[in-house]
Amino acid sequence: MLRTHTCGELSEKLIGETATLCGWVDTYRDHGGGLFVDLRDRYGLTQVVFNPPDTPPAVIEASKTLRDEYVVQVTGTVAARPEGMANAKMQTGEIELRVTEFVLLNKSLTPPVSPSAPEPPGEDLRLKYRFLDLRRPEMQRTLLLRASIIKGMRDYFAENGFIDIETPVLGRSTPEGARDYLVPSRVHRGTFYALPQSPQLYKQILMIAGYDRYVQVARCFRDEDLRADRQPEFTQLDLEMTFVDENDVIGVIDGLVAKLAKAELGLEVPIPLPRLTYDEAMERFGHDAPDLRFGLELIDCTDLASEAEFRVFSAVAASGGRVRGLNVKQGTSHYSRRGIDSLTSFVADYGAKGLAWFRVEEDGTLNSTIAKNFTPELLAKFGERMGAEPGDLLLYVADKYEVTCKALYALRSKIGREMRLYDPDAMHFSWVVEFPMFDYDEETKSWQAMHHPFTAPLPANLDLLDTDPGKCRAQAYDLVINGSEAGGGTIRIHDAEVQKKVFNLLGIDATTAVERFGFLLDALQFGAPPHGGIALGIDRWVMLFGKLENIRDGIAFPKTQKATDLMTEAPGEVDLKQLRELHIKLDE
Ligand code: AMO
Repeated sequence: MLRTHTCGELSEKLIGETATLCGWVDTYRDHGGGLFVDLRDRYGLTQVVFNPPDTPPAVIEASKTLRDEYVVQVTGTVAARPEGMANAKMQTGEIELRVTEFVLLNKSLTPPVSPSAPEPPGEDLRLKYRFLDLRRPEMQRTLLLRASIIKGMRDYFAENGFIDIETPVLGRSTPEGARDYLVPSRVHRGTFYALPQSPQLYKQILMIAGYDRYVQVARCFRDEDLRADRQPEFTQLDLEMTFVDENDVIGVIDGLVAKLAKAELGLEVPIPLPRLTYDEAMERFGHDAPDLRFGLELIDCTDLASEAEFRVFSAVAASGGRVRGLNVKQGTSHYSRRGIDSLTSFVADYGAKGLAWFRVEEDGTLNSTIAKNFTPELLAKFGERMGAEPGDLLLYVADKYEVTCKALYALRSKIGREMRLYDPDAMHFSWVVEFPMFDYDEETKSWQAMHHPFTAPLPANLDLLDTDPGKCRAQAYDLVINGSEAGGGTIRIHDAEVQKKVFNLLGIDATTAVERFGFLLDALQFGAPPHGGIALGIDRWVMLFGKLENIRDGIAFPKTQKATDLMTEAPGEVDLKQLRELHIKLDE
C-alpha cells in the first residue's frame, strides 16, 4: 500500500505517530514560509503542513509547485493543531500532519469542475467532467448511500429465502408499454434484439419453473420522454413470488422499507404501511401516487356548484364535470391578489381554464369578485363543506374530472412547497392498491393495460372483464414515497383463458399474442402456479433517501434529459463497415 492511513482517519489518538497519506490537493494556502494543504480522498480531508522545522527546506520548496487536484503521497508526524486552530467541522479537525517527505504522484490540469467549490457548476459541465464531479464529497456520499441501499436490499432478500437469478439483456420486446431500444443482429440479417424494459416475462417463467422466490438487481431500458425522475436506463430491484396473494408481496416490501428506513435514515417506520385504494387516492388527492407528507385534500363541491348562478360552475356540473377545491389554511396572508393570479396561470399549464377563489373574511363570509353570483346561503354551504375559517383561501377548478385531478394535484404540491406545509426531511411511505385494469385511450378508442397485460383482475371483478372493463380493478399495488412512485407490481394471470380474454380487450389478437409472448402463453399451459411480484425503482429510492433534486445525482454515469452521455458522447456515429456488417443502410 502506498499509504498507512486514509485522509479521514487520523485523530488525536495517533498524535506523535508517523503516517503516510495519499490523496488529491483539495485546497492549498501559501504562507510564505510554508504551505498548508487540505488533502482529500473519499474518506475525508486532512490538513497537511509543509513548514519548518519539521519539513526540510528542499521539501518545502518542492511543495510550492502543488496545485489543485495534484495527487501526492506525504509522510509526516501526526500533531495536535496549534492552540485555537482546531476545526470542529472537520473529522480530522484536531490534528494535522507535519510533513517530512513527499512524492508527487501526478499532476492535474486546471480542473473545470472544482471538487472543493462550495457550489457545483452547471450540470452539463459536471456531466462532461464526471470524473471530477464524482470527486465531490456530496457525490461520494450519494454513491455510498446507493451501494448501502442495494446491499441492504440484497441482504434482506437473501435472508428471506430469495434466489438471485440473472435474466438476459438481449431478448425479445417486453411489454411495459414504452418504446424499446433495439440491437441489430449481425448473424440474422434484418432482425433485432430488444433491450428489456424489465425482466417481467422471464421472472414469470422462473415462477412457472418452480423457483418460488426470485430476486435480481436488474438494469432496464426504456426509450421514453425523460423527466426529473426518469432515466432511459435505470435499475430495478425486481422480485417475484409463487403461491402468494398481494398481501404477501406487500408484506415483504413493508419489511424492507422498515429495515432500510432504520438503517439509512434512523427512522422507525411503523408497518404495515398505510394503504389507499386508487379511487380514494384520485378522489382525495387527484393523483395515483399522492404526497402524503401533508393534508390539503381535494374537496368535492359539484353538487353545490350545480345550484350556483355562476355559469362556469353550473355548466360544468350539468355536463358531468366536477367542481373541486382546496382549502388553503391561512392562505390569504400568503397569497395576495397577484399571488392568486400567478396560481391561476400555473393551473392553466395543467389544462384548467380558470381558478375560482374566495377569501374567508373575519366574520366567516366568503368574499371574491365572483361572490355576487352566489346567494349568501349557498356561499355559507360552500364555506361549511370546505371547513372554512377566517383567513383561509378557497381555490376551485371546475372542469372534466381528469383536469380537476391534474390541475389541483399540481396546485396542491406547489402550495405545499411554498407554504412549507411539510418538513422537507420527512419521509412518508404508503401503498396505492386496486388500480384499474385498463385505461381508455380516447384518441385510439381502445383499452390500454394500466400496468402490463399480465396483471390479474381482483377475483371479485372477473365478470367485469366481459361486462364493464372500465370498472374492473386489478390486483395491483404501487409503493409511494413522498409523492413518487417508488415501486409497482401485481399478481399475475396464471390462467391461459383469462390471459386470452385480457389480450382480446387490449386488441392483441391471437397471432400477435403468439408472436410476441408465445413462450409465456405456452408456459402458462404447463402447470403455472399462482404468482406475483413487484419491482422497486432503485434510482428513485436513492433520490428520495438522499434528498436529491433529481434522479441523475444518484447515478454515477447518468444520461441527460436528451438521453445523451456528455462524458463519452454516446450515442455516437459508427463506421460504415460496422453498419454494413449489420446490413443497415442509413437513409441520409
Ligand atoms: P414499472 O414499470 O412500474 O413495473 O417499474 C417499476 C418501478 O421502476 C421505476 N421506474 C423508473 N425509474 C427510473 N426511470 C424510469 N424510466 C423508470 N420507469 C420505471 C419506478 C417504478 O415504480 N415489470 C413491472 C414490475 C412488476 O409488475 O413486477 C415493472 O417494470 O419506481
